[in-house]
Amino acid sequence: MKDTIDEALEIALAAARLAGEILQAGQPDEPRRASVTTRLKSSPTDVVTEMDLAAEKAIVEVLERLRPLDGIVAEEGSNRDSNSGWNWFVDPLDGTVNYLYGSPQWCVSIAAADSEGVCAAVVHAPALALTFYARRGKGSFRIDRQGETRLGPISEVPLDQALVATGFGYRSERRRNQARVVAEVIPLVRDIRRKGSAALDLCWVASGVVNAYYERGTNAWDIKAGGLIVEEAGGVFGGLRGESAGMAMTVAAAPKLQSELVELLTNLDADLGD
Ligand code: IPD
Ligand code: CA
Repeated sequence: MKDTIDEALEIALAAARLAGEILQAGQPDEPRRASVTTRLKSSPTDVVTEMDLAAEKAIVEVLERLRPLDGIVAEEGSNRDSNSGWNWFVDPLDGTVNYLYGSPQWCVSIAAADSEGVCAAVVHAPALALTFYARRGKGSFRIDRQGETRLGPISEVPLDQALVATGFGYRSERRRNQARVVAEVIPLVRDIRRKGSAALDLCWVASGVVNAYYERGTNAWDIKAGGLIVEEAGGVFGGLRGESAGMAMTVAAAPKLQSELVELLTNLDADLGD
């Protein structure tokens, strides 16, 4: 019989690929951009599209069929309590704005958690022909057209040479505070990247495309899968002031760089205020 974590990974991969196909098939061209926008969430720039909803529905149908007792926490609201001790964290389309604008940096992010935490994770980016996955204790991998490569260990670099990815929330009060913090960070690092998908940003850390990632205001569905992918590549994924990664702050990098960034962001009170 298959180890349950292997089975969870297989389900996550299958569900992510199915959602990826739906999203690619339904990607709007420029003239249709506005017509697929079904409603606004936290601000006029925080959109949910027909395609976010269709992708989430497809993933949830797979989980309901194969894991009927497990809980679900999904970005577009298909939530369900767990009767098995297992939970799934689903972002059907992370990088919605990139997707709408035809930029390839978007993905489907799915994490499965047992009683000890996240144990299987998939971040699937069809437009980049890339899939990242991890199982707890068994490493992180990247699948591309050439095949499969194990990730890590993530290299340490000094803070002043670090290429640092970050993201901004949708509400303008939150952004004002995030702009204050990034204005303090940018003179101290190699450069900043704002690529537009938190789940992929974590995979970029795991695969050395950037050295670090931090963001205030991420939800569980944005970061649970990417967090395991970072940890299994030898990185550290956490928050400030001894807290876990989450809404207040998420910081991911190789261990020494991660603690330097945590110290800097704590001194800037980057997790406080709006
Ligand atoms: C957003 C993206 C973005 C991050 C935001 C997220 P969405 O998710 O991950 O990079 O900066 O905090 O909300 O709205 O594209 O699913
Ligand atoms: Ca998201």
